[in-house]
Amino acid sequence: MKTIKELIKLVANFSLICSLVLFFSCTEVNGQQNYKDANTKPEDRAKDLISKMTLEEKVAQLNGLGNGHGVFGDKKAGVFGTKGNEKLGIPTLVMGHGITGVRSGRDVSVKSTYMLAPIGIAATWDTELYSRASVAIAKEMVALGQNLNLGTTLNIIRHPLGGRGWECFSEDPYLTAQLGVEHVKAMQANGIISGPKHFVANNQEQNRHDINNVLEERTLREIYLPAFKTAVVEGGALNIMAAYNRVNGTFMCENKWLLTDILRDEWGFKGFVLSDFGKGVQSTVPTALAGMNIEMSSAKWYGSKLVAAVNNGEIKESIIDKLVYDKLFTMFKMGLFDNKWKQPKEVVHSQEHQNIALEVARKSGVLLKNKNNVLPLALKKGNKLAVIGPNAKRYVGGVYSEFLQGGGSGGCYYFEDAVTNPVDEIAKIANVMEVSYARGCHIELKKKQKKIEAKTLMPDALDLADVKKDDKQLTKEAVELAEKSDQVILVVGITGSQESEGRDRKSTRLPENQEKLINEVTKVNKNVIVVMVGGSYFDTSSWIDKVNGVINYFYCGEKLSQAMAEVLFGKVNPSGKLPISYPKSASQYPKGSIFQGGKYKEKKESNIYSEGIFVGYRYFNKNKEEMRFPFGYGLSYTNFKYSKLKVKKGKIVEVSFTIKNTGKISGDEIAQLYIHDKESSVPRPIRELKGFKRVSLKAGESKKVHITLKDDAFAFWSPTKKDWTVEPGEFDIQIGVNSRDIKLSKIINK
Ligand code: BGC
Repeated sequence: MKTIKELIKLVANFSLICSLVLFFSCTEVNGQQNYKDANTKPEDRAKDLISKMTLEEKVAQLNGLGNGHGVFGDKKAGVFGTKGNEKLGIPTLVMGHGITGVRSGRDVSVKSTYMLAPIGIAATWDTELYSRASVAIAKEMVALGQNLNLGTTLNIIRHPLGGRGWECFSEDPYLTAQLGVEHVKAMQANGIISGPKHFVANNQEQNRHDINNVLEERTLREIYLPAFKTAVVEGGALNIMAAYNRVNGTFMCENKWLLTDILRDEWGFKGFVLSDFGKGVQSTVPTALAGMNIEMSSAKWYGSKLVAAVNNGEIKESIIDKLVYDKLFTMFKMGLFDNKWKQPKEVVHSQEHQNIALEVARKSGVLLKNKNNVLPLALKKGNKLAVIGPNAKRYVGGVYSEFLQGGGSGGCYYFEDAVTNPVDEIAKIANVMEVSYARGCHIELKKKQKKIEAKTLMPDALDLADVKKDDKQLTKEAVELAEKSDQVILVVGITGSQESEGRDRKSTRLPENQEKLINEVTKVNKNVIVVMVGGSYFDTSSWIDKVNGVINYFYCGEKLSQAMAEVLFGKVNPSGKLPISYPKSASQYPKGSIFQGGKYKEKKESNIYSEGIFVGYRYFNKNKEEMRFPFGYGLSYTNFKYSKLKVKKGKIVEVSFTIKNTGKISGDEIAQLYIHDKESSVPRPIRELKGFKRVSLKAGESKKVHITLKDDAFAFWSPTKKDWTVEPGEFDIQIGVNSRDIKLSKIINK
């Protein structure tokens, strides 16, 4: 006798198989269709092609190559992709990373425009600019022979120690979603399949291959899934990378609930899923049944094991057909069988693309502190200006002494000549001043990193001398220089040696030697400006009161140095705002997170997302934590006044207000719309970002800003109804300059 549960399972499996049979029987109906005919619908072409393939040929389409093999057999380059099939005319699918610029596996000879880092573009809050930058990256990918972008990273910055935070946009799901969707649309409209990753709840590097992240459905739905949902539903993303980690006990590559029930059935995803590379897949049949299409980047679990599973009846061939269908359909839809996309080589690092990179860098610096309006610095003829710090000048070619990117696959190889140094750019603008440079201290490197670094460095004469000195000597020289200077600019921060894929950050403070440098320099000179470069939050407590000004640059492309100099001397008005919170110290982050003590050693130990939906500013607001700089914060050299808030109710709520530039120079303001649900049956955040606008205003100019709100802006995920719910009652619409400074507000009833 079968139990009821078993019967239900049987019926469910039967109906799945029936629908697959029905789906593919259309192939017979359309049997006349020729998959080689570009005028035939992609759906029919895919079905026709599958009907002509053997089981082995189909399974071969479900394995990627790369990681030491290379899709083209070139071990050194290790280019990722799936092999084509010459007999059937299936093209190779070449995968690259288009996250910061273009990266082709480990092939250092493939260079591109280094356009941005996700957290850097997030600081611009400029979705239109990101769209243009993404078009440029897509065009370069096409020119370099790629078809699919292994990105971008839509994970939420849950904690600032996460090594890949720099590769993500924000702690906020709405900001992440708005940027992510622009990227997806731009990529796919220009010939590159877009593959948001790492689906889902992939928020740390420690134990990244087996960590079990435990979180409630409401937390998933409200915080970690929205950006993926927007990418699929609004952006039409045709690829998703399933993360290494487990969610509530199930590896993401085996997670049918997330990969099929939610991604495909609820959101209507039509593309194919890739596993994260190497250890993403952990089984054969459960992975295939979950709807995970392609094992990257080997045939460890699919390949012959999948063929055997079909042959011994463990899995129906129709399921393999569906996995292959998703991939071939996507390739047909994107025109990859018809060689539709072409770009000339000259598009790579074209002047137009460099201009976009410059715009990104100019818009992304965040002015955090400006005591007595000390910035912009005046160009005082004959004054002595000292530019000091390990990030003020790179060691050319150094793998780790790199101030431009975090480490790992998100980075790209750029043209060395395109990347200038802050000290040189500052000297160009401040040419009436006497500009001097001192390194101050080294970027902290581990022993192994030091060895690699020594081999790759191509230092110029000045650097060569510095490389051999120790921190003590470098700091001494810097202090001597600071002492005889009128003004000091300290360029500090971290690099890929401190934050990287595969490695979480050790601390949220600047490396010890850099904090020491700031403290020593400020003892002898009171006119100190600090420029921080990095991809995540810094605890500035030990030194911020000793300096007059602070500008924060998240990694933001090859033009960072030029933009930095322009902002320091007022050629560009800073306009970036923080896409993450800056509490006073990292200890203010939720307790119980594995980052608090970093003791996650046991593979089976679960990592509980105890803060639930209260991530980032949602958490700090709830707990009334004192902030150094709140989410959304950023100063300008001009001032803005907000007025005339109007809220028009309807199916869509229309919000409008006016911003006036009341200062003497033009500037950009990023207005933020937050919503607070005043009465609710479940705990809701004090405010949540639901809209924003970046507005350019000339001195004295006013502009009316419009933001519309659909119902989903007011909804929460009800754990009891298991659905999105808008509860009737009062909602406060708040317009702020950041998440702690609300200028206008109005209550409406829903
Ligand atoms: C990373 C992915 C990346 C892949 C290929 C993995 O280790 O987690 O983000 O796309 O490698 O480089």
